[in-house]
Amino acid sequence: MGQLKRVLGVWNLISLGIGAIIGAGIFVLTGTTAAQYAGPGIVISFIIAAFICLLAGLCYAEFASMIPKAGSAYTYALGTMGKGMAWVIGWDLILEYLFAASTVAVGWSAYATSLCRDIGIAIPDQWSHSPFAYHHGQFTITGHFLNIPAMVIVGMIGGLLWLGIRESARANAIVVAIKLMVIGLFIAFGMAHINPANLSPIIPANTGEWGVFGWSGVIRAAGIIFFAYIGFDAVSTAAQECKNPQRDLPIGILGSLGIATLLYIAVAVVLTGTVYYPHLNVPDPIAVAVNSFGPHLGWLKLAVKLGALAGLSSVILVMLMGQTRIFYAMASDGFLPKFFCRIHPRLQTPSVATIITCSVAMVIAGIFPIQLLSELVSIGTLLAFAIVCIGVLVLRRTRPDLPRPFKTPLVPLVPILGAMAAIAQMMALHVDTWIRLGVWMLLGAGVYWIYGRRVQLSRDDVFNHDT
Ligand code: ALA
Repeated sequence: MGQLKRVLGVWNLISLGIGAIIGAGIFVLTGTTAAQYAGPGIVISFIIAAFICLLAGLCYAEFASMIPKAGSAYTYALGTMGKGMAWVIGWDLILEYLFAASTVAVGWSAYATSLCRDIGIAIPDQWSHSPFAYHHGQFTITGHFLNIPAMVIVGMIGGLLWLGIRESARANAIVVAIKLMVIGLFIAFGMAHINPANLSPIIPANTGEWGVFGWSGVIRAAGIIFFAYIGFDAVSTAAQECKNPQRDLPIGILGSLGIATLLYIAVAVVLTGTVYYPHLNVPDPIAVAVNSFGPHLGWLKLAVKLGALAGLSSVILVMLMGQTRIFYAMASDGFLPKFFCRIHPRLQTPSVATIITCSVAMVIAGIFPIQLLSELVSIGTLLAFAIVCIGVLVLRRTRPDLPRPFKTPLVPLVPILGAMAAIAQMMALHVDTWIRLGVWMLLGAGVYWIYGRRVQLSRDDVFNHDT
């Protein structure tokens, strides 16, 4: 079957983490969320969401340091709760990784068509939008055919992943540098244009409806912009390709989360400080804020759009990479057909898994609207977070003897709070999203019945395998 190649160092991991985290959340969702729910209080929402992710991140870091394998939460569940739960989480992670790649590809398509329009190239709506729209649980037919730009970007990134992990990590590092530079420029120029009147009051008064401004609005906004933090856990899927996983994975997970948090808080302050929040109800809030800086900074608006495209591309890249590595781990354990873990002899990548994953992600990106996809991604990720937090507690009891190069602090408080926070956020999601999660899991149960149930694996196998 072959082995994955150990080439990644700590900076590669931090860069992969930032690559996966900073994307549609900050470039697209921040504006609408501030305008509709939190006003300048979105800054507090970012801090709340970061705290919840930190709880889960600390649990991921413990597992990643003690079980440095490509399967991430799937493998942790296998080691703590056995093969049934491992299958549940492996199947659930498809919602996080594969669907996140498609979701962000749809966001990429919106930015790409807008940039093309700016330079005089018109891409017809029929070929750059989903055939369906989705609002408040209702589907409607849009009259469009397919979202071709979204499919093209997934295909291109899939090709890069197929070529090699080193090439992918290098491309990711370049793209991450571009997006960090653009965000840095935005913060630096924006600070000088903040009008304190825009930030007062920090939390606009509640309208009388739960979740529309006031503290309830800040909390609702935290639930929505949670999406902006998804991705730090993807670092753990590179476990079998990094040189010193025990030491570097916790640094990669927590370091990328920390950097993203600081940048998000700064961007949110500049955004709501330079534009009065009701005017932020747009899909490209950062570009709108740059407009308000004055005509002399027109070049920055173009740079922001390019930075957004770069940012979104790297999220797609790391999410697709994570998905292929999870499939690799599941197939190595016998839960999926062996071709999912076949490593290309020359490229040393799971090439068949890459082709299958990217083809499915392309179809999903071409057909479905972003709202539907992003809710599925959130519920899938939160379920994984909850199980990982509970897993830390279980393993501390069942295998206290195992070496833990990184230990989650304040156990049991941190994992219990982490699991409760994830479940509470899941509760806040739309009932239709729960139904879809249920249908997806039933489908998974069918696949397990046909394929996975005969697999002979014990929990201890996870700790005995060579990594
Ligand atoms: N956190 C990623 C984004 O915001 C999924 O695009």
